[in-house]
Amino acid sequence: VQRVLTGITTTGTLHLGNYVGAVRPAIAASRESGAESFFFMADYHALIKCDEPDRIETSRLQIAATWLAAGLDTSRVTFYRQSDIPEIPELTWLLTCVTSKGQMNRAHAYKGAVDANLAAGEDPDAGITMGLYSYPILMAADILMFNAHRVPVGQDQAQHIEMTRDVAQRFNHLFGQGREFFVLPEADIEKEMALLPGLDGRKMSKSYDNAIPLFEGGAKGLKEAIARIVTDSKLPGEPKDPDGSHLVTIYDAFATPAQRAEFRQQLREGLAWGEAKQRLYDLIEAEIGPMRARYDALLAHPEKIEAILLEGAAKARAIAAPFLAQLREAVGLRRFT
Ligand code: TYM
Repeated sequence: VQRVLTGITTTGTLHLGNYVGAVRPAIAASRESGAESFFFMADYHALIKCDEPDRIETSRLQIAATWLAAGLDTSRVTFYRQSDIPEIPELTWLLTCVTSKGQMNRAHAYKGAVDANLAAGEDPDAGITMGLYSYPILMAADILMFNAHRVPVGQDQAQHIEMTRDVAQRFNHLFGQGREFFVLPEADIEKEMALLPGLDGRKMSKSYDNAIPLFEGGAKGLKEAIARIVTDSKLPGEPKDPDGSHLVTIYDAFATPAQRAEFRQQLREGLAWGEAKQRLYDLIEAEIGPMRARYDALLAHPEKIEAILLEGAAKARAIAAPFLAQLREAVGLRRFT
């Protein structure tokens, strides 16, 4: 059985990049026969970036509703909230003790924060918590707890999966005594949509304020966001270069190969950017409009979402608890009785 696992941090609502990079490929992978899937709300990860309890709680509901609305089938997928699985922070500690500090020094999120401090003439570690620093180890525990083979993520998470493999290998080597406790996971990155660009052409990200929301703001919000995609100033009728446009990259993420070719051809023949944006809107809305209706209906019943998550947690713990007992024993801690 191939295990597929992915998580999303609960610090806000999702944008098209999260959908195209993680949610959509993960749901597709979960439908393959022979796959056993684990999708979760990474709310321990949310604490690293967010100290607003209400926001974390609302976000958890919104992200859970998004997964369900996008077609996640809870009879096939173990769907849970990270913080309902206490085995995960315990495994994080076991892994922390075999992870080299030097490796964590190289993690992109931490290095980025240090570089920003240096550029601002501050102390390199100003404002950096241990949570941010050891973030990749918590993520490794998420993945290794369920021995996932494949992790559908966007390109920005690739380094974390590499680090997970290293930590897993080290643990196996130190404590396995011939047994491979942990599977070495592979990142499952869809080449073409590994990094969906945002309004300004940089990676779509909440922190760049360039994101197109998936459901928030409704169809109107989607249209307004698309209207703000930056294009060159070529006039209607003037030939446009489709390969230099991130609007086209976003279009590609939702189009069939035939639609992609046609759109490019029309731009070369002078299609107006305004009209191109209308086509982009129609294309995206056709895919996500029906999901948005389900999303709104789900959000009206938070208690149902809660019940689904608790059921998922019970399924997840039935796997995590006995596995953690073996790991405790392997490192020399008492087995749970
Ligand atoms: P997060 O919450 O930042 O993002 C969720 C997923 O969305 C992907 N993504 C994108 N994909 C394509 N284009 C973009 N512009 C774009 N922006 C975001 C991310 O790559 C990610 O797949 N640390 C993770 C959450 C996590 C996790 C895990 C993931 C915690 N534990 C275990 C996999 C396995 C994160 O913060 O993702």
